Amino acid sequence: MDPLDILFPDQIVASRQGKAIGHTLIYEHEVSSTNEVAHSLARQGNPEGIVVIAERQTRGRGRLGRSWFSTPGKGLTLSVLLRPPIPPTRAPQLTLVTAAALAAGLRSETGIPVRLKWPNDLRIGGRKTGGILTEMAATGRTIDHVVIGIGLNVNQDPAGFPEEIRHMAVSLAEAAGGPMPRQRILDAVIDSLDHSYARYLSDGFEPVREIWESLSDMIGQEVTVREHERVVSGRARGIDDEGFLLVEASDGTISRVVSGDVSLAGEESPSEAGTGASSSGQTGS
Ligand code: BTN
Repeated sequence: MDPLDILFPDQIVASRQGKAIGHTLIYEHEVSSTNEVAHSLARQGNPEGIVVIAERQTRGRGRLGRSWFSTPGKGLTLSVLLRPPIPPTRAPQLTLVTAAALAAGLRSETGIPVRLKWPNDLRIGGRKTGGILTEMAATGRTIDHVVIGIGLNVNQDPAGFPEEIRHMAVSLAEAAGGPMPRQRILDAVIDSLDHSYARYLSDGFEPVREIWESLSDMIGQEVTVREHERVVSGRARGIDDEGFLLVEASDGTISRVVSGDVSLAGEESPSEAGTGASSSGQTGS
């Protein structure tokens, strides 16, 4: 394996003792899904902040029932176990906390202008370089735990992506014009998430909302959102204080979108790009 692609989890763990995220790191060659492993660690009573990384997932999952293809040694696929002291209704904010943290962390580490598409895409030049899948386990009004799954395209060549998504996916290496040490990227991602999560818990969602909007690809753009049976078209105006997307129709009415597939004017819709039920999470959201 290219030395740039080797991960040294012990070095990360050693530098993260006493921090909320990354004090413990489980690194596997192959798992079903790192999110599944993190849920099971949570059910066994493990503490917040454990990170699970795998080179290969046999059932890597993306949003909206899609799957996520990972390339061993080239991408980063990881999940973070959190036990946030917030009500379940605020859990969707954690996707945006993570997205803003990752974009900021990757920008400062690589200089690449990573941008965001609601709710969970990291993009470079309109192509997807990463995705986030947030899953929660709650009883009534109490969160037991949240798993934040992160998939990042780091060193894939264009030819390394499945053909049907090649035109919509991009790796950091392709954007930078050369390989990126995955260890550095992993370190930056964990560190940035740790800072943003701490700030979210102390200062609330408003600072995250501002950062997210400043890094978003969508604000002021014409969008079409497919949310279950509902299709909402209009101009993306921002996100509200719960993290929902605000879309303004031509008559001035504002719709709040809770979840769904967003396409920007002039771009292919994610649902058109995939191969049916198992379309790729690398480009879908
Ligand atoms: C998306 O864009 O649809 C979200 C993709 C999230 C993929 C990551 S890879 C690590 C973690 N484990 C999973 O099974 N999924 C997430």
